[in-house]
Amino acid sequence: MTTAAAQAATEDNYYLLERDSVETKRLDNQHEFIVRICGGSLLHKAIPQDKIFSVADVATGTGIWLRELKQYLDSTHPTPTQPRVYHGFDISDAQFPADVNASFSLQDCLKPFPVEHHGRYDLVHVRLLVAAIKGANFKLIVANLKPLLKPGGYLQWEDLDMGSFLTTSDPKWDSTPGMQTMHYLINAQVALGSSAHVPEAVAAGARDAGLVQVQTDYYNTNAHPELDETTRQWILNATVPLMRSVKMRNAGATANEEVIDKEVEAHVAAVKETYAQGLVIHGAIGVVIAKMPEQ
Ligand SMILES: C[S@@+](CC[C@H](N)C(=O)[O-])C[C@H]1O[C@@H](n2cnc3c(N)ncnc32)[C@H](O)[C@@H]1O
Repeated sequence: MTTAAAQAATEDNYYLLERDSVETKRLDNQHEFIVRICGGSLLHKAIPQDKIFSVADVATGTGIWLRELKQYLDSTHPTPTQPRVYHGFDISDAQFPADVNASFSLQDCLKPFPVEHHGRYDLVHVRLLVAAIKGANFKLIVANLKPLLKPGGYLQWEDLDMGSFLTTSDPKWDSTPGMQTMHYLINAQVALGSSAHVPEAVAAGARDAGLVQVQTDYYNTNAHPELDETTRQWILNATVPLMRSVKMRNAGATANEEVIDKEVEAHVAAVKETYAQGLVIHGAIGVVIAKMPEQ
C-alpha cells in the first residue's frame, strides 16, 4: 500500500521540478556526476572530516548526499562510542528513502526550524535549490540555517551558477538552436524569479547572517573533458522537466499539455542537433563554505 506524500505548509510553492520516479532517478544519477565535478569529495577540503559528528541535509530530496556521506564517514572515520547523527529536511517527503539509518522530517527552509534542532549540527549541507527558491529568498534561508549550527560548525552549499551556462567556448555556437534553447530556458527561469547566480546570493546571505570564513569555489564542467558525454546528458535530462515547467507556468490556466510537450520535444531536438555538430554546454557549480563563529 502506498501512502500519499506529505508537504510542509508553505506560502511559496515555487518548485519547478517534479517529485515522480523519473525525477527521483535523475537526482540519484546526477549525484556522482556533481561530486566528481566539484573536486571528487563529498566534503569541501576546508571541513575537518574527523570533527563531523552531526549532519543536517536541507532540501535533501532522495537523501542521496546524506546516505553517501554516512557510508563514507562511518567507514573512513568510525566512531564506535559516539554514533553520528544524520538528519534530512525537505518540504516534501515524496522522495524520502525508506530503508535508511538516518532521520528525515518535513521542513520548509523559508520558515524557522524547530528549536530542538538548534545548535545541534557540526555541518549543515544544502545542494541544488536553484529551481526551487526565488533569488530574493536565499538570504532568508541562510538566516534560518544559522541557528542549526554548533559554534564552529560549517555550512556547505553547492548550487548552479546558471548564468555561466550561457557562455560558450567559441562565439560560433551562440546563435545555434541548442544555445538558443539554453538562453530561452535560463531567461524564462530568471523571469519567474530564479537567480542566475545562486552561489553569489548564498555567500552574501552567509556574510549578512554573521557567518565567517565565507568562501566560494567554482568548478566548471569544462575542466572534465572525460565527462563531456555525461555533461551533455545531464543538461538534456534537466532541460526536459524545467522547460515543461516554465512553459506550463507561463501558459497559466490556458496551458495545453499536448502542445507544450511538442514544444519541449522541439527544444530537445534543437539541443541534440547542436550536440551533433560538437557543442558541449558547459557551466559552473559554486561550492559555498561558511563557518559559525566559535562562541
Ligand atoms: C533539485 S532537488 C535537490 C535534492 C538534493 N539536495 C540533491 O542534491 O539531490 C531540490 C529539493 O528541494 C526541495 N525543496 C523545494 N523547496 C523547498 C523548501 N522551501 N524547503 C525545503 N525544501 C525544499 C524539493 O522538495 C527537492 O527535494
